[in-house]
Amino acid sequence: MSDSRTILVADDDRAIRTVLSQALGRSGYQVRATSSASTLWRWVEDGEGDLVITDVVMPDENGLDLVPRIKRVRPELRVVVMSAQSTFMTALKAAQRGAFEYLPKPFDLKELMAVVERALAAPQAPQPAEDTGEDGNERLPLVGRSPAMQEIYRTVARLTTTDLTVMITGESGTGKELVARALHDYGRRRGGPFVAINMAAIPRELIESELFGHERGAFTGALNRGIGRFEQAAGGTLFLDEIGDMPPEAQTRLLRVLQEGEFTTVGGRNPIKANVRIVAATHRDLRQSIRQGLFREDLFYRLNVVPIRLPPLRERLEDIPLLARHFLDRAKSSGLPMKQLSLEAVERLKGHAWPGNARELENLMRRLAALYPQETIDADAVTSELQEAEPPAEAGARGPETLEQAVERHLKAFVSAQKDGLPVRDLYDRVLAEVERPLLRLVLGATRGNQIKAAAMLGLNRNTLRKKIRELELPVVRGLG
Ligand SMILES: Nc1ncnc2c1ncn2[C@@H]1O[C@H](COP(=O)(O)OP(=O)(O)OP(=O)(O)O)[C@@H](O)[C@H]1O
Ligand SMILES: [Mg+2]
Repeated sequence: MSDSRTILVADDDRAIRTVLSQALGRSGYQVRATSSASTLWRWVEDGEGDLVITDVVMPDENGLDLVPRIKRVRPELRVVVMSAQSTFMTALKAAQRGAFEYLPKPFDLKELMAVVERALAAPQAPQPAEDTGEDGNERLPLVGRSPAMQEIYRTVARLTTTDLTVMITGESGTGKELVARALHDYGRRRGGPFVAINMAAIPRELIESELFGHERGAFTGALNRGIGRFEQAAGGTLFLDEIGDMPPEAQTRLLRVLQEGEFTTVGGRNPIKANVRIVAATHRDLRQSIRQGLFREDLFYRLNVVPIRLPPLRERLEDIPLLARHFLDRAKSSGLPMKQLSLEAVERLKGHAWPGNARELENLMRRLAALYPQETIDADAVTSELQEAEPPAEAGARGPETLEQAVERHLKAFVSAQKDGLPVRDLYDRVLAEVERPLLRLVLGATRGNQIKAAAMLGLNRNTLRKKIRELELPVVRGLG
């Protein structure tokens, strides 16, 4: 299968050089291996080799720094970077400097061989090295070195050189928004705005005008023309958070915009060109929502161009020490005292199930930093704080979230999703309608649509109930079940 192509390997670890030489040799490739970056550079300058596999940390030079230089003198030569220093930044730099692929160590030999085949087979469209100029010890936005996170870093890093639509899924608190921001902050559109809109936090009848804007007089309360998020995000990234909660009409409209690349405002006629990179996120299982008829399948496929699934924290317990450290550092930079964790405390953290994922860990670290007097946090402190915060379902003692608490949570999310305060009119009525609708549905369901009984249960006059049913456009169903 081989036409005897030569692979240049640079790694200061003799064992790796041996393993690679043997494996590549068995597949019929010629291999030249060195422990030094300068020897590799000489070979490249001399025009040798069809592919480079290089380590990052070598005694004389950093392999990552070599990548743009190689790309300059031999743009067609593919470079595969491998590193044990497997942070998000390594993956990111490898991608942005024009490496063909990045492999965190320890790598799987089969995977490496597959990468080599791809690198040698793929058409040679020279990718420009996109050096961001950033360097050194930037603050890492994403923390964790588990294999699952490595995979995420590689995907995110590669995506920063594209405008592809991304769908991030994962349980609550797994870092979906953080990944969306990283895609923007390190991507091609980093000079433009990052605009987020949370579908779950906006009253459903306002979503379309929030997304696409509205003309003056388009609906009651639209006193002026309103700019939508699509327009605000022009040149940048539009983050559609909780996309699984998007109402059906808005889904239809969004699908059309994605298909046609342009949109019109609510009440407007002139099409406006959409110039956004879309990143969507949800904690829901969208395939199930599709089966339930709650999410459009065609929209799903439009958005799911590149799926990223963030693993729950319990699937990557090995990341807990680094994450805990990271959150304690963050707590410190927000003015809380510096704390350490004892080894037992870390073990205790690893034993927890983390239903709230990274956010739960972050909150716990903040609480411990704020409340715990000793500098070193021990296992007992962790245990008692974890019990303290036990979710109601498990603890039972605290009782479930009350309606008031739930409403407050939703309202806060709604308020914080508004960029410039609360531009909404009729807020009082709108919010009450959100509560009235499910209440009336529930009571009408319980009374099988009997409005006399329902009115009695609600303590409402029958005419008032009838009026509300009309206003809220509730279906009138009689004799259910
Ligand atoms: N890998 C990570 N490294 C560092 N911090 C993280 C990581 N993952 C999550 N966090 C932090 O945990 C918190 C929750 O993350 P984020 O808000 O991105 O989660 P989410 O998946 O969007 O959650 P939700 O579904 O509830 O909206 C944030 O403060 C974020 O900075
Ligand atoms: Mg989120």
